[in-house]
Amino acid sequence: MAQVSRKGSAAVRARREQRERRKAARKEWELAGTQLGNLIGVKKEDEKDDRLIEEGQTDYKADQKFAEHMKGTGEAASDFARRKTIQEQRQFLPVFAVREELLRIIRENSVVVVVGETGSGKTTQLTQYLHEDGYSSRGVIGCTQPRRVAAMSVAKRVSDEMRTHLGDEVGYAIRFEDCTNEQTVIKYMTDGILLRESLRESDLDHYSAIIMDEAHERSLSTDVLFGLLREVVARRTDLRLIVTSATMDAHKFSAFFGEVPVFNIPGRTFPVETFFSRHVVEDYVEAAVKQSLQIHLQHEEGDVLVFMPGQEDIEVTCELLVEKLAEIDNAPQLAICRPKIFQRAPDGLRKCVVATNIAETSLTVDGIKYVVDSGYCKLKVFNPRVGMDGLQVYPVSQANANQRKGRAGRTGPGMCYRLYTERQYKDELLECTVPEIQRTNLANVVLLLKSLGVEDLLKFHFMDPPPQDNLLNSQYQLWTLGALDNTGLLTQLGRAMVEFPLDPALSKMLLAGVDMGCSEEILTIVSMLSVPALFYRPKGREEEADAMREKFQVPESDHLTFLNIYRQWRLQQYSSGWCTKHFLHFKALKKVREVRQQLHDIMDQQRLSMTSCGTDEDLVRKCVCAAYFHQACRLKGIGEYVNLRTGTPCHLHPTSALFGMGYTPDYIVYHELVMTSKEYMQCVTAVEGNWLAEVGDKFYSVNEGGASRMEKRRQALAHKAAMEAEMDRAQDTLKARAEER
Ligand code: CDP
Ligand code: MG
Repeated sequence: MAQVSRKGSAAVRARREQRERRKAARKEWELAGTQLGNLIGVKKEDEKDDRLIEEGQTDYKADQKFAEHMKGTGEAASDFARRKTIQEQRQFLPVFAVREELLRIIRENSVVVVVGETGSGKTTQLTQYLHEDGYSSRGVIGCTQPRRVAAMSVAKRVSDEMRTHLGDEVGYAIRFEDCTNEQTVIKYMTDGILLRESLRESDLDHYSAIIMDEAHERSLSTDVLFGLLREVVARRTDLRLIVTSATMDAHKFSAFFGEVPVFNIPGRTFPVETFFSRHVVEDYVEAAVKQSLQIHLQHEEGDVLVFMPGQEDIEVTCELLVEKLAEIDNAPQLAICRPKIFQRAPDGLRKCVVATNIAETSLTVDGIKYVVDSGYCKLKVFNPRVGMDGLQVYPVSQANANQRKGRAGRTGPGMCYRLYTERQYKDELLECTVPEIQRTNLANVVLLLKSLGVEDLLKFHFMDPPPQDNLLNSQYQLWTLGALDNTGLLTQLGRAMVEFPLDPALSKMLLAGVDMGCSEEILTIVSMLSVPALFYRPKGREEEADAMREKFQVPESDHLTFLNIYRQWRLQQYSSGWCTKHFLHFKALKKVREVRQQLHDIMDQQRLSMTSCGTDEDLVRKCVCAAYFHQACRLKGIGEYVNLRTGTPCHLHPTSALFGMGYTPDYIVYHELVMTSKEYMQCVTAVEGNWLAEVGDKFYSVNEGGASRMEKRRQALAHKAAMEAEMDRAQDTLKARAEER
């Protein structure tokens, strides 16, 4: 963990912090001005980034736009693509030159690591080669991606290349969306999907080959799959496993699977000249804009690719580019693109693409001659202060930096401008990014592995084991939810929770709903929580939209507000017109309905009953409490709460139904925290103090004078001692393991 937080020099840090503070103050100010909503923007931004980083939450609308873009413009719009037919394009890819040799090595080895530059054809061609070589007659050819966007767009591309309809021979599967059928022989999916499939079919028998693509990204699910697949290939000699990677890490992967062959796809790369910043850069956005304009005005033709850490910086960069360009007399035109929108650049215009690290390897942007690298990226990191994962900006690793640089040398010699000094690169950047498994919450992984029969997680074969504190914390969290028993084994509740493709707390909420007789209502709420961006707030009509939103609000609960919206929509026969009128995204609600149906199916399979509590909505609030008691707050002042466990002050989010309603319950639980200048609780429900003691008895007890306070303290001490003993035991196991080696 200490490694990850190594930021730039003290001066950079101080300036960054100042910038953050300025930004935060601006937000605070905007917030005070409009009372409602500016923070929604912040939340949405994080969601967008999440989408690019993990398969959990997603802004599917952006995904679709992305997929459409990939289909219609981008690559296909490049000169090359326009000249050649799709089949000719296939034969032009570097991987085509080594097709036979590659297939031979795969035939002869269970596991092969394949290394090749971005754009060499790994993702789109390997599956097809295996199909052409007969693997699909023995089972499905699966290909995993760390990003949903990539799974969808690549499946579309390959189905085009094979001249089939997407979802037939070539399909994809991402959480809550399965676009495959019984004809499907090539299946692209997120790594999270394959991980869940291993629950049902531990040897993944219906696959003849599995390609773990973009393995160098080291996403959480990929890392867990590594450990599992290592066992599977030992048992199934007929299965072929191909691990693809950008240049870094290849030998580590090979060693992990027992010194398996590494196959290099000879690339056609051109030299890239690197320029470091001479001074420490104060503001990377400003510097990137300046650099890009300088390239545009002084250098010969060729497109520019700018790397920024997140969506917000991308927006600012694009705005500034437009602004500054307008100030220059007679400046030639420049087409400024953000991957979100992907305008097609008119012929002859220089294109400047501003993107996140998705453009490092997952996304091929052709014709790039100049790269401008801010040196930062966003990473999901567990924040112990608030006890949850958060996205934060960190310096990139040297491996990322070199990947970024490489993007400039695909079609000819290029130039890479790094907005950091050479000394910073050498002394301050880590060699490789710390894998996700070592920096995020592992509750879901723990639950999954336990249900796969891995009793002692410290013995599981991780390529890079997570810090044991992370493992223990996650186990502790599952224990408080009742998913693990005192000895760390899965309980009946835990076993039931695994069935749902949801975070443990949400699965727990569903099951509490079954127990308490309001599963019908909870199912709707959980589905609503699984789909982001329900509300629509068009520029210039903010007040109108907010007023509509208020009409749905149930004063004591945002969760009940969600329920209310869904119920009304159902009464309107799921009408799209009704959504538009009420400033709700129809597509989002449609997605909620689909998610709800899928969760409903799982409940049916598990023989879990669907019951409604009718008008007794207290029951619903109690269920919410049963799942989120670990995120509870007590009233401290007007609109101000303190977290019951950490003592951190928390504020009601301005979009909450409880905000500014003059109704201030003593206790609340929240779904998530949005961190800007302060901690804002989003999606809040009022609860009774005694519910907390009842459903969260591992944390809380009713305070009835001195005796009980003593009792509580005694319990807390005993609890702590028990945890410490558990830690010691884990430590011993680790030591024993080290000695064994
Ligand atoms: O995986 P790798 O980076 O090695 O290459 P790939 O994704 O298989 O891409 C090979 C080529 O396919 C790219 O250079 C693009 O021209 C094309 N492609 C496309 O047109 N549309 C996609 N969605 C993906 C790839
Ligand atoms: Mg690829």
